[in-house]
Amino acid sequence: MKVPITFLPQNIITHVPEGTTVFNAANWAGLAIDSTCGGRGTCGKCKVRLLQGVNSIAEADRKHLSAAELADGWRLSCRAPIHQACIAQVPRLMTAPKAALLGYGRHVAIDPNVAKVYLELAEPTFEDQQPDLQRVITALDKEGYSVRPDPAVWRALPRTLRANDFKITAVVCGDELIAVEGGDTTDRMFGLALDIGTTTIVGAVVDLNTGAVAAVQSTLNRQAAYGADVISRISYTMTEPDGLATLQARIVETINTLFDQLLAASGIARENVYEAVAVGNATMLHILLGIDPEPISVAPFIPTIEEAVTLPASDLTPYPPAPLSPLLSFRQEVGEGAREARGRGVRLHPQARLSTLPHLGAYVGADIVAGVLATGIVRDKDDALRLYIDVGTNGEIVLGSLRRTLATAAPAGPAFEGAQIKCGMRASDGAIEGVRIDDDVHLQVIGATRPIGICGSGLVDAVAQLIERGLVNASGLLARPEDARGRVPDPLVERLVEVNGVRAFLLSAPEDGIVLTQPDIRALQFAKGAIAAGVAVLMTHLGVKADDLSKVLLAGSFGSYINPASARAIGLVPWVPVERIVAVGNAAGEGAKIALLSFREREAAKRIPEFVEYIELSARPDFNDIFTEALAFPSVVRPTGEASQ
Ligand code: FES
Repeated sequence: MKVPITFLPQNIITHVPEGTTVFNAANWAGLAIDSTCGGRGTCGKCKVRLLQGVNSIAEADRKHLSAAELADGWRLSCRAPIHQACIAQVPRLMTAPKAALLGYGRHVAIDPNVAKVYLELAEPTFEDQQPDLQRVITALDKEGYSVRPDPAVWRALPRTLRANDFKITAVVCGDELIAVEGGDTTDRMFGLALDIGTTTIVGAVVDLNTGAVAAVQSTLNRQAAYGADVISRISYTMTEPDGLATLQARIVETINTLFDQLLAASGIARENVYEAVAVGNATMLHILLGIDPEPISVAPFIPTIEEAVTLPASDLTPYPPAPLSPLLSFRQEVGEGAREARGRGVRLHPQARLSTLPHLGAYVGADIVAGVLATGIVRDKDDALRLYIDVGTNGEIVLGSLRRTLATAAPAGPAFEGAQIKCGMRASDGAIEGVRIDDDVHLQVIGATRPIGICGSGLVDAVAQLIERGLVNASGLLARPEDARGRVPDPLVERLVEVNGVRAFLLSAPEDGIVLTQPDIRALQFAKGAIAAGVAVLMTHLGVKADDLSKVLLAGSFGSYINPASARAIGLVPWVPVERIVAVGNAAGEGAKIALLSFREREAAKRIPEFVEYIELSARPDFNDIFTEALAFPSVVRPTGEASQ
């Protein structure tokens, strides 16, 4: 039996089999509910307010929700089965998380892989009996394009030629003729740059004639319901019979929805977008391409494909082409269509191609290659030594110059994404993103609203400020009120509290109840320690010191919003003058854009793995010692006498 559920404020109504959880129903209806445990009832992030239909209280509800919230109808959606008509109010959805849309990128000469060639062909006669296709190919050859025609061109050609007096535009992608269009359409030629993150996907529609970005937007990766990090996504593909098909459908759905929004925002026609360049970590790209990612997660961590690939964007069928999973069958049953449900492809021009950039290893993916391309680390002639860090669940680090470049990956864990932090949340409305502490605490909240949690940049700021006020020591211990009294102003002492027997610092007004606990500080210490240890290993390997660094480039959404002085104060980056620490925004997305706009740059990106040496941290016998050393917070006053800022 099916029962209806209504999601507010979107007013989306769907019917689900009795016993389906509210979390799964939302997932199937395409609504993103926050989760970092993938619906296992452990993260406490998925709460919704049930206005009708569910009354039972699960054990996990009692653990994660207050008595007042329970009385008000709040429940963990993943623990709430639906047995009768139900109405659920979903808190502000984070379908558009705060993410860096644009980043630092070099200017490149426009020379895209896609070309449009306007041809005015002679009409056939009894004397000139050249077949249609040969006529087009010969004309293109004279223009310098030696092409193989896509079969779709054979089918469209006779009618297109005759309906347009043999005046057509040939669309060439690489060495393939992918379309013929009637008349001169050379002014309409666009591409899609995609940065596919585990949490967030950023897309940009780019004019391939001018290089201008017509629209750019971000959205939550709809795979988020299956776990917060790549390992949980991979384990889903390993434990569920149709796990890969399900996750692939999710990522394709996310891209298609994002692309629809980009088209609506830019007014560009889908048929004029001929190519996508996708970058992302190796797991995300393997799943997008329908490749089993399991070998990435087990020693010796081998990706199936490391090189750049190009294939039809409309056909990304996973292998094996599994029968529809119960979840997908359900989607089909409710009328969403098999093609959509199975997520077979990205809906650009029907013959559009999708290309990726290469990976450097299982855990340093095409997104980092794109960042290296955008920032020019291995190619700039000035030979400046630069450190590039993409801060996230997996911290990817590149250190080098034209002379020699090294890369590694450090498993930082989810603290920077606000996960496993008591009041942690992703960077969206209501998240504390900045903290300043003087005589009292001053908060910067996304969306200028009351705070409801703290995101990664707020966490780094808060700990940095507490270190500087002497309320957190070098080993990461939060002061007790009796230790702080007389050393700091009284309002700060009053914020040193205990929550469930552990030390905590009250960040918000008491009624908002947002605290930073001792375990939160430890979680941040482990996360920053992993990245700092990775940096230390690369610096030792290259024989350089902090003073040799001309720039520290912080990339990715988190890197873009982190306060450079705070990153330095907690020891996430080496101690360099703060003006040398630069947020480069979505450098991966910029790299994808550059690859879209310049065939030469794309070819250069394909060769980046030849210039970068990958260092495997787990293979180093001294890594644990280096990591332990990196856990400590820096002293407030540096040996040079430079005070931290
Ligand atoms: S507790 Fe429900 S998704 Fe994590």
